[in-house]
Amino acid sequence: MTTKDIAPPQHIAFIMDGNGRWAKDRLLPRVAGHAKGAAQVRQLTKNCARRGIGYVTLYAFSTENWARPSDEVSALMSLFLKYLSSEVDEMRDNGVRLRVLGDTSGFSQAIQDAIARAESSTAHNDRLHLNVAANYGGRAELVHAVRKWMVANPNADPALFDEASISNHLQTGNMPAPDLLVRTGGECRISNFLLWQTAYTELYFTDTLWPAFDASALDQAILWYHTRERRFGKTSEQVQVST
Ligand code: IPE
Ligand code: IPE
Ligand code: MG
Repeated sequence: MTTKDIAPPQHIAFIMDGNGRWAKDRLLPRVAGHAKGAAQVRQLTKNCARRGIGYVTLYAFSTENWARPSDEVSALMSLFLKYLSSEVDEMRDNGVRLRVLGDTSGFSQAIQDAIARAESSTAHNDRLHLNVAANYGGRAELVHAVRKWMVANPNADPALFDEASISNHLQTGNMPAPDLLVRTGGECRISNFLLWQTAYTELYFTDTLWPAFDASALDQAILWYHTRERRFGKTSEQVQVST
């Protein structure tokens, strides 16, 4: 693998898939896979911060995941609440700013309160921006963005509606778009994640299951990113002249 002279990724997004299969391989209940997956998030956050990654977005729970068996959904909610409460002090002390992307009104009051606490106590940090996408769907986010624009611009000429009208109203706001998207668990699909923001993201699919995605797996993904040539529509020759 040859590495090219491109800037390190500023923003990495992760589709944390494969918890259920990780547990099944060990004859454990699916929930055990989710618990191990949640523990992996802690390590991953540290490893990204150490590598100077400024933005990390994690897909934790999709709008479609409510369709899972109710005991699994409850277990995921309990883990989310536990994670929000147990990690907040360390995040605050380590320069991590937490934001939750998605429709938080779909969660219990206890979770909504924990989200509000975690977001406000880390709001002053900027070493690592950690976005957790929960009750998140890319299509729903786009619908909300368009609605917000319409409310802010009633009776506006449709010609005024442009790409910025959408991007300015997304929950990712003015954060940089992901440079690299990593999906663990072997599936090669987006599953309704960051549909707008990933227009020019480099996509990395690995068979490694999320609970096994460790520091060396992260380094492999970053190394692969450095072999890419980001052309953004231009020719290879043009890109090489401008670097
Ligand atoms: C990802 O792991 C976690 C969530 C979607 C919440 P899965 O639970 O989808 O694991 P697999 O795909 O069944 O192995
Ligand atoms: C994607 O995983 C969602 C999260 C990781 C939160 P899924 O396991 O829900 O995706 P599909 O259903 O296989 O596409
Ligand atoms: Mg899955």
